[in-house]
Amino acid sequence: MTDGGRIHDTAAAGFSAGSSAYARGRPSYPDEVVEFLAAELGLGRGKKVLDLAAGTGKFTALLVPTGADVLAVEPVKEMGDELRASVDGVEVLEGTAEDIPLPDGSLDAVTVAQAFHWFDPDAALSEIARVLRTGGGMALLWNRRDESVPWVGRMSDVLRWREFDRANYDRIDWSAVVRKSGLFTDVQHTTFPYEQELDRQGLAERVRSVSYVASMESAEREGLVEKVLGLVEDKPERFPLPYTTLVFWCRKG
Ligand SMILES: C[S@@+](CC[C@H](N)C(=O)[O-])C[C@H]1O[C@@H](n2cnc3c(N)ncnc32)[C@H](O)[C@@H]1O
Repeated sequence: MTDGGRIHDTAAAGFSAGSSAYARGRPSYPDEVVEFLAAELGLGRGKKVLDLAAGTGKFTALLVPTGADVLAVEPVKEMGDELRASVDGVEVLEGTAEDIPLPDGSLDAVTVAQAFHWFDPDAALSEIARVLRTGGGMALLWNRRDESVPWVGRMSDVLRWREFDRANYDRIDWSAVVRKSGLFTDVQHTTFPYEQELDRQGLAERVRSVSYVASMESAEREGLVEKVLGLVEDKPERFPLPYTTLVFWCRKG
């Protein structure tokens, strides 16, 4: 953690306790998203991109094949350690979105996958603008579970997902949040379909990796795992957990 950098208590507790479950149970992102962002933001050889709040490196790993120099910033030591162990060729720095340990104007792009909802948005946007060169790109993305699929909707009910304020990132107008900062061009937005293929063990880890579930007492946590596994009794050994990947992007103005 950087001096003065502090993250939400649930993130700190949940992501340190659940880092291994996170690495095993959370989804990656569609390859098309990276191809799309590489084209839109001009990522490639000779460019420098930061994956902010990189976690165990699920999105970071997909940036490496673009040929850009990839840096990662992550505040939770256990998550950063998973990243260092599993993704080669990335410099991993300890830090927060509100206090990014990089010089002014030093980056061509910043990506934030499944994490901007944890930040203090105004402080983070001003830090992201500080480390980007003028015209540099910012992309915010999230994998949103497809709750229109009945068992996925029931899983959200079992986890009481909507009662946790940070889980409502898909109801926030991120374009308006970015526009208010006055630091970026208009935000553009698109979506990609995505599926995570899981077995029962993978679904159990998916549940254990949810920040507020990871920080529960083990009896309560495993009770939720059992209930969620009960929702997929009729499924074959491997089955898809469907998502929509939400992508927002803009440039430093
Ligand atoms: C759901 S994980 C996403 C990790 C990774 N980007 C991915 O796509 O798998 C959220 C990450 O945000 C990090 N985080 C939470 N608050 C943060 C902050 N204020 N600054 C930087 N990172 C933060 C957590 O430590 C965690 O690794």
